[in-house]
Amino acid sequence: MAQHIRTAVFPVAGLGTRFLPATKANPKEMLPVVDKPLIQYAVEEAVAAGVTEMVFVTSSSKRAIEDHFDRNFELETVLAQRGKDELLAIVNDILPKGVNCVYIRQPEALGLGHAVLCAKNVVGNHPFAVILADDLIDDDGRGCLAQMTTLFEQQQCSLLGVEEVDHNETDKYGIVKANKGDGRFGRVEQIVEKPKPADAPSNLAVVGRYILTPRIFELLESTGAGAGGEIQLTDAIADLLKEESVLAYQFNGRRFDCGSKLGYLTATVEYALKHPALKDEFLDYLHRYCLPPKK
Ligand code: G1P
Repeated sequence: MAQHIRTAVFPVAGLGTRFLPATKANPKEMLPVVDKPLIQYAVEEAVAAGVTEMVFVTSSSKRAIEDHFDRNFELETVLAQRGKDELLAIVNDILPKGVNCVYIRQPEALGLGHAVLCAKNVVGNHPFAVILADDLIDDDGRGCLAQMTTLFEQQQCSLLGVEEVDHNETDKYGIVKANKGDGRFGRVEQIVEKPKPADAPSNLAVVGRYILTPRIFELLESTGAGAGGEIQLTDAIADLLKEESVLAYQFNGRRFDCGSKLGYLTATVEYALKHPALKDEFLDYLHRYCLPPKK
């Protein structure tokens, strides 16, 4: 029987050291791009793909994420009393009806693979998505995960969202070698975590979107420490593709690496230039101080 993706896992326990001091007391996933935190963009992408069960793998310093997706009666009451209906709607619409959140603690920062394994009992024996919120993906209407769930419905196998990166940046990513395949997707033949450019099998990088079969959990249980001394999801996927098909999918859309300051800044500028209430004034500002004046 054809399977569907109903659950997404959001590993959000990372320390966010690249953004210190901003992330000392504040989760990196709560950094806003214009007016929305990164984790909300990620959840909205999952909702748009038909996901209803959101599983967050968190740590002790990430309570703000739980609060963000919970009710805030005091704020709602004040907004209602003051007749701020638009703001009230923004607050109330953060999570659509019928969507559930589950929070699991990752007790130690042992790596992405370990974080995903923490979700095993909640996900159960079903295929599921993994979304890394610091990879923000802008698309032209069809979200990256929705593209991948559509492909999953046809192919019924694990999928990795990939894009080409600069050859000298392979050591920041899981890198795949995939056969040419059918247009935007091909079968993964090899995957390796953060290879040096000289050792990389290609420049096709896994970005933070995965659809995985539950077999990955059993493989993760026996995955030892890999790159950086951490339990790597990439290593378990390398084992998975010995047993099952795994496809690399080149999604439509533009990815911003919001785990880096430059990527985050770029996303902020691009999203501000698309924001209905901001774009005109912001563009004027850019022309006044940063760009050649408007003709
Ligand atoms: C993780 C994964 C890596 C993947 C990347 C995408 O690395 O381990 O395989 O390519 O996310 O953003 P991290 O960025 O957590 O070091």
